Amino acid sequence: MNPPQSDVMKVNLEPVSDDQNLGFIACLTIDRPDKLNALNAEVMASLKTVCAWVEESDDVRVLVITGAPPNPPAEGKRTKPHAFVAGADITEFAGAGSDVIRERFRNNAVEALWNLSKPTIAMVDGFALGGGCEVACSCDVRIASNRSTFGTPEINLGLIPGYGATQRLERLVGYGKAHEMIMTGDMVPAEEAHRIGLVNHVVAPEDLEQTVMEMARRIGTKSSHALRVGKQAVRAALDEGLTDGVEIEAIAFADLFDSEDKEIGVQAFMNRETPEWKHR
Ligand code: COA
Repeated sequence: MNPPQSDVMKVNLEPVSDDQNLGFIACLTIDRPDKLNALNAEVMASLKTVCAWVEESDDVRVLVITGAPPNPPAEGKRTKPHAFVAGADITEFAGAGSDVIRERFRNNAVEALWNLSKPTIAMVDGFALGGGCEVACSCDVRIASNRSTFGTPEINLGLIPGYGATQRLERLVGYGKAHEMIMTGDMVPAEEAHRIGLVNHVVAPEDLEQTVMEMARRIGTKSSHALRVGKQAVRAALDEGLTDGVEIEAIAFADLFDSEDKEIGVQAFMNRETPEWKHR
């Protein structure tokens, strides 16, 4: 099982547990630290390839996505700041017209990430700006270090977000705060991002990886079938009204009663055993 790699993207596989049958957590690192991991065309192509691989690979249970830490500074230069992703690569916007951008942003990698049926976690350490904030918003869960900063500064370029923040950020932080972020372009520190619902947890930088991996492992031990159904049902809350959404949940919940994993889970509870899922 060899994950795709590229010059700008590394993918490591971490076992969910000592039990090899439980599969792997795919840890994807966007690797352009000298450019604060900005999303250029190469990164976006790699991200799309990795997402397709994650979806197809039966052994991958959870995807964790992060940005590479800064390289040691060149002599006489300062260390560059920590970044998850500091946005789309702005140099690729120079001179670009709408035809180029429509083509580039159609079926883009952020949508591929959003459309994964498997659980996804953004591990954010540093700047998550513009497309970086949008990559994070396209994951199911966001966990950030306390030195992280979020924002949608596209307005400062005479633009608006283009990877879904007007919709997905709005769903996380609400109408008023999304307007404020998109209209001012102001940076939002991690603690505030936590308070407004943009991130799930904020921890010290040295605790970040462990916190994320513990959650990824916990999720990775669940029934992948139940996880998939649960993700679809929660997503329905974004597109449907409450009455239709509750109906979607009722159908999904009842359908799970015909799944082998439901019987495995219920029997394991009653026998005080750890469930051995059919759909690992
Ligand atoms: N696109 C392309 N390059 C970027 C980038 C981006 N979105 N963000 C940072 N970089 C590059 C810088 O050009 C610089 O490259 P260089 O060292 O070769 O000159 C390097 O990353 C380090 O960034 P720098 O600006 O020197 O760091 P800083 O600590 O002074 O500032 C930021 C950090 C995040 C405040 C600043 O880089 C910034 O505002 N970036 C753009 C954020 C943005 O607008 N994102 C939305 C894009 S749509």
